[in-house]
Amino acid sequence: MTTFNRKSMPFFHKNGLLTSGDFQKNHFNTMTIEWGSIGKVWGIPLVQIFVRPSRYTYQFLEQYNSSTLSCFPEEYRKALLLLGTKSGRDGNKITEAGLTPIAANHVASPIFNEAELTIECQKMYWDDIVSAQMSDGEAISRFGRLPEPHRVYYGKIVAIQGIKRYLAAA
Ligand SMILES: Cc1cc2nc3c(=O)[nH]c(=O)nc-3n(C[C@H](O)[C@H](O)[C@H](O)COP(=O)(O)O)c2cc1C
Repeated sequence: MTTFNRKSMPFFHKNGLLTSGDFQKNHFNTMTIEWGSIGKVWGIPLVQIFVRPSRYTYQFLEQYNSSTLSCFPEEYRKALLLLGTKSGRDGNKITEAGLTPIAANHVASPIFNEAELTIECQKMYWDDIVSAQMSDGEAISRFGRLPEPHRVYYGKIVAIQGIKRYLAAA
């Protein structure tokens, strides 16, 4: 597995996509993602993402055991805004955004030809955020405004591929 340069880590800053499903079955969906983190637990590198159940992508995360995160160059920001404001329920937003899904190397969920960094994940754990267990005022006020609980998924990182500027210095 390739290590990555955390200082160049672009995920969760408006230019990342979360994709889940099965590329071979042509059954997958994608959405823009901003809430999440990358870390390690029990020695396992993982991605933690927060997804509202109303997202169409949520259904794929529930049905399938893998997901991918894909990061794009700045010129795709408009495409990511589209993918983060339209639902895959209502049409082929991926084609409309001008992106090309391709098979990932280690998981069934696709990655994108245009991505400059890709993380492939195996579903490891999920849980629902319970507002009664929140203790930070800012988090309570932000979370409390939202009508539905978020599901948090922990994805075990099974592969990372990217262009050179994302790679950690030796
Ligand atoms: C910049 C940006 C970041 C977003 N981050 C998240 C997120 O972390 N979690 C989430 O549930 N929705 C997030 N959204 C909203 C979804 O991307 C959006 O609702 C999308 O249309 C869902 O598509 P889908 O119904 O095809 O899954 C974000 C939207 C934008 C524009």
